[in-house]
Amino acid sequence: MRLGCCYYPEHWPEDMWADDARRMVDMGLTRVRIGEFSWARIEPEPGCFDWDGLDRAIAVLGEAGLGVILGTPTATPPKWLVDSMPDMIAIDRDGTPRKFGSRRHYCFSHQGYRAESARITRAMAERYGQNPHIVAWQTDNEYGCHDTVQSFSDASRAAFRHWLAARYASISALNAAWGNIFWSQTYRSFAEIDLPNLTVTAANPSHWLDFRRYASDMVVAFNREQTNILRALSPGRDIMHNYMGFFTEFDHHDVGTDLDVAGWDSYPLGFLEQFWFSDADKLRYARQGHPDIAAFHHDLYRGCAGGRWWVIEQQPGPVNWARYNPAPLPGMVALWTIEAMAHGAELVSYFRWRQYPKAQEQMHSGLLRPDSVTDQGGVEARQAADLIARIGVVTAARADVALIFDYPSDWATQIEPQGQGYRALRTAFEYYTALRENGLSVDIVRNAADAADHALVVAPCAMLIDEAGAAEYGALSGALVLGPRSGSKTPVLTIPAKLAPGPLADLIPLTVARVESLRPGLTEALASPLGGHVHGWLEYVETALTPRLTTANGRGVWYQHGRVHYLAAKVDADSLRTILASAARDAGLAPQSLPSGLRLRRSGTHLFAFNYTPDPVDLSMLTIPAGTQRIHGDPILAPAQFAVWRTTDG
Ligand code: GAL
Repeated sequence: MRLGCCYYPEHWPEDMWADDARRMVDMGLTRVRIGEFSWARIEPEPGCFDWDGLDRAIAVLGEAGLGVILGTPTATPPKWLVDSMPDMIAIDRDGTPRKFGSRRHYCFSHQGYRAESARITRAMAERYGQNPHIVAWQTDNEYGCHDTVQSFSDASRAAFRHWLAARYASISALNAAWGNIFWSQTYRSFAEIDLPNLTVTAANPSHWLDFRRYASDMVVAFNREQTNILRALSPGRDIMHNYMGFFTEFDHHDVGTDLDVAGWDSYPLGFLEQFWFSDADKLRYARQGHPDIAAFHHDLYRGCAGGRWWVIEQQPGPVNWARYNPAPLPGMVALWTIEAMAHGAELVSYFRWRQYPKAQEQMHSGLLRPDSVTDQGGVEARQAADLIARIGVVTAARADVALIFDYPSDWATQIEPQGQGYRALRTAFEYYTALRENGLSVDIVRNAADAADHALVVAPCAMLIDEAGAAEYGALSGALVLGPRSGSKTPVLTIPAKLAPGPLADLIPLTVARVESLRPGLTEALASPLGGHVHGWLEYVETALTPRLTTANGRGVWYQHGRVHYLAAKVDADSLRTILASAARDAGLAPQSLPSGLRLRRSGTHLFAFNYTPDPVDLSMLTIPAGTQRIHGDPILAPAQFAVWRTTDG
């Protein structure tokens, strides 16, 4: 695994570049990402290119021994471009235009901006496509950041109508599929269909889901226009895009089909603060991040572009954008780095090289302080480089468990949560946590077809399933755990004719006759021996099967039919862990209950343990396979420390 950093030569006097490059190399870095916000510098006036600065920056960095990852600059269209084409601006859900003055102010559906994106990409690729220092490209920067996938513009409306016409062929087919007889929503032509925002009360959920699919397809098309140009003009270089954390606005599997490498931007402390975690977890893990945040995304994005993935932005210290921005515990930057290695990353690149004392991110730390003194992140990057060399090559291995997560199911739960906060993404994360607390390694995959070889397959909330999808589940050889809401909707977001779990009922004979969602505090006790509780969601199941677990008043919660399990409720975290451990044992796996906040990860050659807890952990309590040799870490693992074993089969 390599290390790198994100660098903005345009922020610093040119006479600093050579020394910066030398210090990067001394720190153990071999890659540097540049250029993704440089449009105003390289094309200061329409059609007038000034390449000199970027030419020299690439030369200085490359000659120092760094491979350069060059970003196309389309996340920051310059002022002159916006002024020449004001309707390229994205329009938010309230109908308000997004203004110039930060970034990502463009609409993915605007053909004029799409042409500009292709033009600047081609200009850069013609200039640098064959440059020996360029090893890879990044397309744009963080598609969708700052809520910019959905745009409610005139361009979107027109293109959405074409997209619907291509999908449904006739307006009567669309009316029937969406159920537009309801509330007199019937359309006479595609030209009558508007975008689903600003309706008096909720728009038709099928309308929303198609708009979400359409908006995602626009991101795919935008990205593909760039990758086609880059592939033609810069052969042999990897093409990557940087995905975000807990972000599902576009289908990352679809975008990934055009990439060589899925990149992602890992900010464990910022994500902990900004997302759904309890106050107790936010305090317990404030300086480490929740133990599954980085790992969940490593495993998710490993499945998005054929297996290759990078952390292209790694948090190096306090960030500026969360509600609160604590500093990581000493050791965490190195731990996050080695954890990425354990999950199969080819590169970890820190964001950013040096803290920039001006503009929006002046409070965001870097590897260096603004006065160029090496900050804690830089110290730990150097330590990580030494550790990577000591650990050696880490080969991949199929994980114990495949966890299925698909983006359209998450859109479906956002459109129709039915109980506040019920989301496929969050459910996937909670099941992932339960599996990892059992010491299991996980591959996150898009569908059952990608889980054919796993001993255990878990689908926490695969809502939208048609007959073909159900057949893929039927073909699995491993044990299968289906979470509540599985197969509960058709791909157009309507209730299937046979009710939930739709065509999955061929795998386990039951019908979900009714569902209820439960507000916080409204719970149902589980029968002994588990003794936990149902919260949030409970289904009423009709079946001849005898449940393996019921609520205290006899309602079925866990059903099993051969190798297929169905969970008809959300249960507390301990109960979920126990249920999944039992399913894993039935599947021939060897789960082990880990101290909370400790995580194990097995590769083909190594075993890793990461201590996210604020307390020391005694590793002698772990079941470590015979013949392994500990090559790093103490037997009592201090907070923010990790251990590495070499396994004999490597
Ligand atoms: C990312 C983004 C970077 C920078 C960073 C700050 O979302 O790609 O440009 O803004 O966050 O943490």
